[in-house]
Amino acid sequence: TALALEPSSWRRVGLFLELPRVRGAGVNKVMVSVINQLYLIACVVCRMGVNWQRIRSILNPRMLKPKHVSSYTNTINDVVSDFIHRVSLLRETNGGGVMVHDLTAELYKFAFEGICSVLFETRMGCMNQVVPEETQKFIFSVGEMFQLSPIIVLFPKSVWPYLPFWKQFVAAWDHLFKVGEQPIRQKMESIQQKVHLDQSVEGAYLTHLLLSDQMTVTEILGSITELLLAGVDTTSNTVSWCLYELAKQPEVQEQLYQEVMSVCPGDELPNSEDIARMPYLKAIVRETLRLYPVVPGNARVSVDNEIVVGDHLFPKDTLFHLCHYAVSYDEHIYPDAHSFLPQRWLRGAPEKSRQHPFGSLPFGFGIRACLGRRVAELEMYLLLSRLMKHYEVRPDPAGTAVKPITRTLLCPAKPIDLQFVDRPAKQRRAV
Ligand code: HEM
Repeated sequence: TALALEPSSWRRVGLFLELPRVRGAGVNKVMVSVINQLYLIACVVCRMGVNWQRIRSILNPRMLKPKHVSSYTNTINDVVSDFIHRVSLLRETNGGGVMVHDLTAELYKFAFEGICSVLFETRMGCMNQVVPEETQKFIFSVGEMFQLSPIIVLFPKSVWPYLPFWKQFVAAWDHLFKVGEQPIRQKMESIQQKVHLDQSVEGAYLTHLLLSDQMTVTEILGSITELLLAGVDTTSNTVSWCLYELAKQPEVQEQLYQEVMSVCPGDELPNSEDIARMPYLKAIVRETLRLYPVVPGNARVSVDNEIVVGDHLFPKDTLFHLCHYAVSYDEHIYPDAHSFLPQRWLRGAPEKSRQHPFGSLPFGFGIRACLGRRVAELEMYLLLSRLMKHYEVRPDPAGTAVKPITRTLLCPAKPIDLQFVDRPAKQRRAV
């Protein structure tokens, strides 16, 4: 095993395709019930080599091509509108008119609703006053799966079934697949009905996958479940940290507010073209992901050949662990590394030209990099810009500092509570 703490090593290692076996189907297969094994081995994350490549090349275009991704803007904006109302409801019902407690839990619901509306082309009701039980259980199961995974892999595979939390772990996986399955079956039925009635069939992600005939239904079920799994905690934790930092830094928040209002004045809803004209917003998200990389480290295996990285020769099959979190806080790479300084990401900033291009890679690198990056960015930008238009975010006056903790992903160690103060409507219109 090699720990990669020098960003240049990414350039070489990130190009490998293979992830460590521990994430591979060989191990995961024993994790879940017999039926769900089928879906799991069809997932993109668990797959290796040519199988992975084939599935990834089918999933890629509608997840990563700007033309397709920007077509999800209205769908996501509808979810954002509901989240804004939910903030207001939470403040009134449980926050003394101003406070939202445990923001991350609320953002999980937003992220789940957002990714479901993109993938399934339907709404799940997570922004309703009462969140559907199944959804709540899915969110809980994702959390449980991420929390237990790093513990389970410390034990040899043969003892897993005897671990006290094994059943819980299996139940969590089973539930994840169950939640994905239902809307997919519904969509298949509705497509079949339309075809039967000779009606035209239109739709976005799922409809496209189901109609394109490039993947089996099992592969679609596996891949969609995995996108759900990867798409909830990642964006929600990142937005939580971003709002936490903005609350602590009113001058940064004010600059962002001014940028949003100058590009998108009054009550207009930002769209993807507007977002392209908000460099400070993007810099804020980049800086958030530097200080709180939600995937704090990941890995690659050099399966084909030995490899030279820096001055070292590593044998074939070396496991490289890429330490995003450690590199993000390296003072040689990011001076004043512990401070939240979004301006370091602005084009033309003196810091930017001195920064290592591989210093912060929160979405990974190479052909195996994050599949949901563009959708995640669009979701975060649309949500943050709208929140800024409606609310000024302030810290909890009684609150203390919140530190990150790793549960596979980097999460807040305790709930983040923030005040959401209305921006005067006339102020919004005047700018
Ligand atoms: C702030 C948001 C997110 C961050 C920081 C993030 C980060 C990452 C990272 C670091 C990886 C591993 C890449 C590598 O090994 O090089 C990854 C993989 C992946 N992500 Fe994300 N992610 C985010 C959101 C999402 C969303 C919203 C989705 C789904 C729509 C998603 C789907 C995936 C999938 C499917 C993979 C596995 C790709 C493969 O193995 O081929 N991610 N993500």
